[in-house]
Amino acid sequence: MIDTPSSTADVIQGLLADLHRRYSLLEDGAPADYIPELAKANPSDFGISIATVDGRLYEVGDTRKPFTIQSISKPFAYGLALKLFSGQHLATKVGVEPSGDAFNAISLDQKTGRPRNPMINAGAIATTAQIWNHDPHQAEALMLDFFSELAGRRLSIDREVFQSERSTGHRNRAIGHLLRNFGIIEDDPEESLDLYFKQCSITVTCHDLAVMAATLACQGHNPFTGARPLTPEITVRMLALMATCGTYDFAGQWLYDVGMPAKSGVGGGVLAMVPGRLGIATYSPPLDVLGNSVRGIAVCNELSDSLGLSLFNQYPQTSSTIRRSYKGTQRQSRRWRAVDQARLLQERRDAIRIVHAQGVLDFAAIERLLSELSEIMADAWILVLDVAHVTELPEESRGLFLNELTSLRRSGVIVLLARAQHLDLPRTLSVASEEEEMPKFAQLDQALEWAEDLLLKSGEEDRTPPFTTEIDQTLGFLGMLQPGHRQTLADLMQCRTFAKDDLVITKGDPGHELFLVREGRFTITVEMRGSDGQTHESRLATFEPGMCFGEISFLSGAPRTANVTADLDGSCWVLERHDFDTLRQWEPDAVTELLLALTRDLGTKLALTSYQLTLMEHL
Ligand code: DON
Repeated sequence: MIDTPSSTADVIQGLLADLHRRYSLLEDGAPADYIPELAKANPSDFGISIATVDGRLYEVGDTRKPFTIQSISKPFAYGLALKLFSGQHLATKVGVEPSGDAFNAISLDQKTGRPRNPMINAGAIATTAQIWNHDPHQAEALMLDFFSELAGRRLSIDREVFQSERSTGHRNRAIGHLLRNFGIIEDDPEESLDLYFKQCSITVTCHDLAVMAATLACQGHNPFTGARPLTPEITVRMLALMATCGTYDFAGQWLYDVGMPAKSGVGGGVLAMVPGRLGIATYSPPLDVLGNSVRGIAVCNELSDSLGLSLFNQYPQTSSTIRRSYKGTQRQSRRWRAVDQARLLQERRDAIRIVHAQGVLDFAAIERLLSELSEIMADAWILVLDVAHVTELPEESRGLFLNELTSLRRSGVIVLLARAQHLDLPRTLSVASEEEEMPKFAQLDQALEWAEDLLLKSGEEDRTPPFTTEIDQTLGFLGMLQPGHRQTLADLMQCRTFAKDDLVITKGDPGHELFLVREGRFTITVEMRGSDGQTHESRLATFEPGMCFGEISFLSGAPRTANVTADLDGSCWVLERHDFDTLRQWEPDAVTELLLALTRDLGTKLALTSYQLTLMEHL
């Protein structure tokens, strides 16, 4: 029987297990021995971990065995220095150019003494000296706290490795003194060198490195703990440095083959990132002649090739920024309008366009949105822009997005933003040197209603006949009844008044009454459980004078299925069931006419509701 993986996790685990099995056979290289403690590492230790930006983890082998972080600490120390000092200040101490030299090369600018980059030892020591400078007494604690936050657990220093490195690190000591000579290090370099040796001796596991890598892939946000040890701006710089300098004199070949920012350490660790996607970590102590883990490099190479992880192998983003768009004739609010207003709206609805945007609104997406919107709005002037499915508006794109809204506004388009609570948008837009309120709505339905109100107001002439509050003259729902029958009903129906927010119908009650709106506005609401697990009141419909409600339970005899409340002070004509039953006996023709009117009214509501529901399926 074929053993089929039971879940995605099993599929990925299977893939890693296969890699681990095959590369365990690769026995080239040897553990670093220039630091005596490192030579004690077990060459057959081998672990692979992958951590995703959604906080999922896949691991195989020795992923929980401690080893020292070594040079993998360098990009993190640089990130910490960028948190403590400005980029300009740091640039006076260390450059960002790849050196193409070995990790321990003494690549200093001949004139200034500035190390080429923070990934080679000279640059790393210069960077660490800055951290020490910032607060000599707290530097070690600051560094450990920061690394621990990145890993999501408390890390510590391996004192044996530290001592071993300290007592044999003559070359690093020479570099430190050379940096002192050039004024790159401003004090006695010994303390900074100690901090550098300690930083290299921080103990991690392959699992820790994967979490740290995922944190970098996630713009400095640890997806496992929720902590934000780094800003996106600093993270971007760290990744860029790792891409160009992370593997020293192997960096060009690495980027060419693997195409990911990465960092290796002589302790046997390798860390690589696919920004926005995942972090990879491997642990295997045998190193090649350049000081990189043999198995680590091989595994990253294969993962990149077989899974298409290279940064330079990105699929073009073809999915539209616009999830769906339609005209105002296709989608309307749940506010039912009296016949004349509804007719008027129907004639004008084409002026409304409803656009659902989606995804991350980065530069490319906004550029696409801009060109698509200008086509969509060519013959319309009200845009309902629903951004509920916009997952992110990055800080650097925010200005562009607002400019886009402003330019639409300047061209005469009224933009109504729906479901934008999760995006940090200002209250106003600067239109023609004036600050103009930007209408925002928590629900799409509210934006649609506002758009319809705008349309109704936009007509030069208001063709809506004044609504009479006298039932025998009411032309709303009862308009199709003969005057005689209307009068009969008028005699039977009682006028009931309501104050704003009064509950008119309660869910679960028997449906013994039929309501005809005389004055005010009445809304049916139901409670819905949202995707956030919370229950929200959702509007099913709002009725205006001349419209009837409560007819479904009244006709079916089933209990009420929703609440109805008064939006404003108002009143309704109410027909009670026992009066209706009496009428059936004495005036069956009036009842037939009433039932016909109800059927027609229900038919209209049903047709529109089914249409909107069908439309939702395509969303
Ligand atoms: O500076 C050193 O010698 C070590 N503590 C760190 C070197 C290292 O990990 C080089 N990386 N590949």
